[in-house]
Amino acid sequence: MPVVSFANPKGGVGKSTTALVLGTTLANAGHKVTIIDADPRQVLHYWRTSGTSKNPVNVIGNVTESNVIRLIQERAAIDEVVLVDLEGTASLVLSRAISRSDLILIPMQAASLDALGAGEVLGLIEQEEEAYNRKIDARIIFTRTNPAITTKIERQIIDSLKNQGRPHLKTHLFQRQAYNAMFAALADLDELVDYDIANLNKAQKNASDLADELVSILAEQQAHEENDHV
Ligand SMILES: Nc1ncnc2c1ncn2[C@@H]1O[C@H](COP(=O)(O)OP(=O)(O)O)[C@@H](O)[C@H]1O
Ligand SMILES: [Mg+2]
Repeated sequence: MPVVSFANPKGGVGKSTTALVLGTTLANAGHKVTIIDADPRQVLHYWRTSGTSKNPVNVIGNVTESNVIRLIQERAAIDEVVLVDLEGTASLVLSRAISRSDLILIPMQAASLDALGAGEVLGLIEQEEEAYNRKIDARIIFTRTNPAITTKIERQIIDSLKNQGRPHLKTHLFQRQAYNAMFAALADLDELVDYDIANLNKAQKNASDLADELVSILAEQQAHEENDHV
């Protein structure tokens, strides 16, 4: 089933956070989800193996350039969704994962330097599209934005993406203490109720909106593919 990779060479833009939020939210909603942690920093593998979270999301670590394709294919044959958290720098693991993805999500803060990183990923995706002669759907997801205000630079970046015909998700992953706390507490959002987290319910709502949008994009892709085969 669908493989969704998270890529942006810039560190700290929220690749791992978005992958964990989506993975745990989809798993709690009853979907069979695996996160393949292909970042050598292994923050998601650490989250899974070091804490006591009861969230059912499966996380696979210790990914190398020689096993990444096999791992993705094995999990895609079993799970409803496979999420691949990628390292920042361009590498064989990164390009192999991209070549096997149905959708690349490019987390990006609404700041100009992050936009440069997003441009680099889009270039890499184009190369993989040429090499494998297939289209790879890629969309930007704005992360760490302020839920209360849209800044001028954010508006400019959104307008310029629109002008370039670059799609982005309607839902942002807002800046929320809860998302950071998932890593500190090694817990999912629902398990954070015992911690004193500001606006936890808003983070949960944001996470479920984001999961819903992802599910509907994947369903749309599936419908297109079925049409193509008729
Ligand atoms: N939406 C968010 N709200 C609050 N903190 C966030 C958010 N996204 C990321 N962070 C924090 O920013 C840091 C970097 O995020 P991370 O997901 O590790 O980025 P990347 O994987 O792109 O390097 C982490 O400390 C993370 O907890
Ligand atoms: Mg990361």
